[in-house]
Amino acid sequence: MSSHSRRAPAGAAASAKPFFDLPAEVAFRSVSAAAAGFPSLDEGVLCAVGHTPLVSLRGVGQGRLRVYAKLEGLNPGGSAKDRPALNIIRAGIAAGQVRPGTVVVESSSGNMGVGLAQACSYLGLRFVCVVDPRTTTQNIQLLRAYGAAVEVVEHPDPETGEFLHARIRRVREILESVPSGFWPDQFNHEANAAAHRDGTMREIAAELEGAVDYVFCATSTCGTLRGCADYLRETGLDTRLVAVDALGSVIFGGPHAERIIPGLGSGMVPGLLRPGLAHAQVHVTNLDCVAGCRRAALREALLVGGSSGGVYTAFERMQDELPDGSVCVLVFCDRGERYLDTVFSDTWVQERFGDVAHLWQTDDERLPAWT
Ligand SMILES: Cc1ncc(COP(=O)(O)O)c(C=O)c1O
Repeated sequence: MSSHSRRAPAGAAASAKPFFDLPAEVAFRSVSAAAAGFPSLDEGVLCAVGHTPLVSLRGVGQGRLRVYAKLEGLNPGGSAKDRPALNIIRAGIAAGQVRPGTVVVESSSGNMGVGLAQACSYLGLRFVCVVDPRTTTQNIQLLRAYGAAVEVVEHPDPETGEFLHARIRRVREILESVPSGFWPDQFNHEANAAAHRDGTMREIAAELEGAVDYVFCATSTCGTLRGCADYLRETGLDTRLVAVDALGSVIFGGPHAERIIPGLGSGMVPGLLRPGLAHAQVHVTNLDCVAGCRRAALREALLVGGSSGGVYTAFERMQDELPDGSVCVLVFCDRGERYLDTVFSDTWVQERFGDVAHLWQTDDERLPAWT
């Protein structure tokens, strides 16, 4: 591969664009939050969504690559999913689908649920989050703390073995039973991808003045991947996207298998996916994610969530192939605090993977016995 760092056309990174694009038939009757009777979206906690820091990494890059992490965990709800949660609700308000009294219903095992719970709490909307038994107690507590109602689907879909299908069926049932329901439908809603096009990728390009060779991001709904790809296509920026998926996810084909890292991979192909969005696809295992998280904590002093550990490991594996001087960005979707009982628990790791500490601790890094 040759280095292909190229600047965006003048003004591309900073040009003003609408926060989301609405179909023409909707745009002419679009309504602002205030006009619809909601608190303004230009103030309060939702103003803090986006504009996350881009920090340099020192434990990867071999001293010949410039590597940065986009710290999406510093969004107010704790993850990148604050962006699509807000943007989908905003689009729903503008299209007249979300009004005071609307009940928002979505299937999520974590971050999207928290992002929606935050947005709905701010707007005074009721939110029902459909989860499954794999959702952590902490995430359920978080959802409830924001005032969301939590519905637990106990069994996976009998045909596919996937909880996702069972959760979506339950979402449809609930929507039929409420008079004014709204389904954000994160796997298919264009405003999910648009939030990353007009937010995540635009911010990266602006901060690096268009000189970014590679962006690595984790995939689930593919909102991040699609949004970044759309931005690059629209601005003509020659950045390569690397999609990091879970082994056992069906997004890019391959057999379905059990995945235990929340938020990474999918049991169905997202409607937002388009052919050729990623220049490369990398599959990571559950253990790759754990080891990547542990290495990032020790080498970068960054406590990041499971999918970010997968991105870190994927980058370590690919870095030999990248040309000298390449500028690389790893999108870290959330923080590690919500993974203290799993990824960062020695007992949890030992029970699932055995003695694997050598994957992150060199002999020099092992702490003495008195600790
Ligand atoms: C922790 C985590 N990483 C990665 C992703 C993938 O992001 P996207 O849905 O934009 O593909 C998600 C999505 O929920 C997530 O929660």
